[in-house]
Amino acid sequence: MSKKRVLSGIQPTHDSFHLGNYLGALKQWVEFQKDSDAFYCVVDLHALTVETDPKLLEKRTLLSVAQLLAIGLDPKQCTLFIQSHVPAHNQLAWVLECITGFGEAGRMTQFKDKSQKGGTDRTNVGLFTYPILQAADILLYQADFVPVGEDQRQHIELTRDLGQRFNNKYHEVFTIPAPQIIKSLAKINDLQDPNAKMSKSASSMAGVIELLDSSDAIIKKFKSSVTDAGKEIKFDEQGKPGISNLLTIASALSGKTIKDLENEYAGKGYGDFKVQVAEIAVEVINPIRIRTQELMADKAALLQLLKDGADKANQVASKTLADVYTALGLIKNG
Ligand code: TYM
Repeated sequence: MSKKRVLSGIQPTHDSFHLGNYLGALKQWVEFQKDSDAFYCVVDLHALTVETDPKLLEKRTLLSVAQLLAIGLDPKQCTLFIQSHVPAHNQLAWVLECITGFGEAGRMTQFKDKSQKGGTDRTNVGLFTYPILQAADILLYQADFVPVGEDQRQHIELTRDLGQRFNNKYHEVFTIPAPQIIKSLAKINDLQDPNAKMSKSASSMAGVIELLDSSDAIIKKFKSSVTDAGKEIKFDEQGKPGISNLLTIASALSGKTIKDLENEYAGKGYGDFKVQVAEIAVEVINPIRIRTQELMADKAALLQLLKDGADKANQVASKTLADVYTALGLIKNG
């Protein structure tokens, strides 16, 4: 039986990924590379929707690649590449834009939130078409599965709709992908505001654990995390969102079940528990930070593996694009 195809992407909009990215999506990426045909991209074109200094974008793109390798992606087991190295992403996005309804794109909640915050004058058209470029990222690779966090579910639904619409209207070109979302890890919350998702664009980083944070910073952030009334260490998302978030994080990072952790900390105070969770986090994150720094020291090696990744990605993507153009009646050159 041939291997299932997997695709996912992450934006290089900040220096560091955070624990939400890691637990909600990236840990799954590492698992999937073992027994599927996995394609992973750093979506630098999507990052252009947020204005960034060019030097900073360049640095963040390489830092993103280094972090992905540091968490365990292995270019021998997966295809790792940068979105802008594969021109077919933009080319397919245009085709998909022509079969997407204006209202349909306007209903995307991430677009609505961002455009409401920024106001119409500060919202660029790229933000509006963002999910359609994402659909192109996925459909180009004929992906069966897309490992992501909960906040991407609606974009994957749109991708499915567009793929089906194209297949029905023209020709069966696309595989229809399924989101791969691990329910318990799909929304890791901010340590200062345990009802809001941990996010790169949080107004303060005090509740955001970054993979490139120093051990001291991680311990400080966990120690000052917001907990709940009462003193029992128990999983109760409604009544105890802060403690439940910490239990989720500790369980995912240590491999212990939530039940085991509840038993282990029975009778202990919140203070002790927070320190323990911090130590578990430091143990996982420290080697990632150190490895990222080592990898960043050899830029030529990073660029070479990205070139190899782009070569493989281009082969798959250009074949799909050619099938799409043929289905549409676009005449071949030559
Ligand atoms: P991005 O860069 O915002 O986030 C990368 C991944 O991290 C997940 N994630 C979380 N999971 C759990 N808890 C959280 N607090 C949390 N915050 C983020 C996201 O769900 C995502 O899986 N639009 C995408 C990038 C993209 C993409 C794609 C993804 C572009 N093309 C094709 C999949 C397939 C995004 O902005 O992710």
